[in-house]
Amino acid sequence: MSLNVKSNIPVKISDKTLARIEVLKSRFPQGKQKSAILTILHEVQDENDNWLTVEAMDKVAEILNLRPIEVYEVVSFYSMYNQKPVGKYMFEFCHTSCCVTRGVEDLMEYTMKKIGVKKKGEVSADGLFSVKGVECLGACGYAPMMQLGDYYHEFLTPEKIDQLIEDCKAGKVELDSSKILNS
Ligand code: FES
Repeated sequence: MSLNVKSNIPVKISDKTLARIEVLKSRFPQGKQKSAILTILHEVQDENDNWLTVEAMDKVAEILNLRPIEVYEVVSFYSMYNQKPVGKYMFEFCHTSCCVTRGVEDLMEYTMKKIGVKKKGEVSADGLFSVKGVECLGACGYAPMMQLGDYYHEFLTPEKIDQLIEDCKAGKVELDSSKILNS
């Protein structure tokens, strides 16, 4: 999906998120509130099925008093922001050197076959899964690895992926670390 195509999907931003955004903005001096953009984009993405429509990015621009292009630039630079729909469980495989030498590309192929998609970024028919390749996640000593939600899964094998997919289908996989941190 191109950055300048409107989705016509309404942007969801709850009162709770709006209040949190105000707190985030208040941490920076007047005129420097653009510095809160990364965290605000995460908040908005989290509330909108883990991806950012053009309308959502435009809303962030409005909130931060920026030109839309300034938000598009940030979103298109970082792989942690999604510009099109993703599966509920998005397997973010590191595809940098250590993980590649430890076989991550074969594992990505294996995973895509298992979830029934032909290419990275495609969402499985049940809406549950998608696969993405990302740059080094800083866990090179545990290669091959991937991020799923807020968590890392390391020393991956086809058997571990099989188990993970089963656990996701059974609703046993936690994605949000804040639920544990705040419990
Ligand atoms: S190369 Fe994969 S985590 Fe660094």
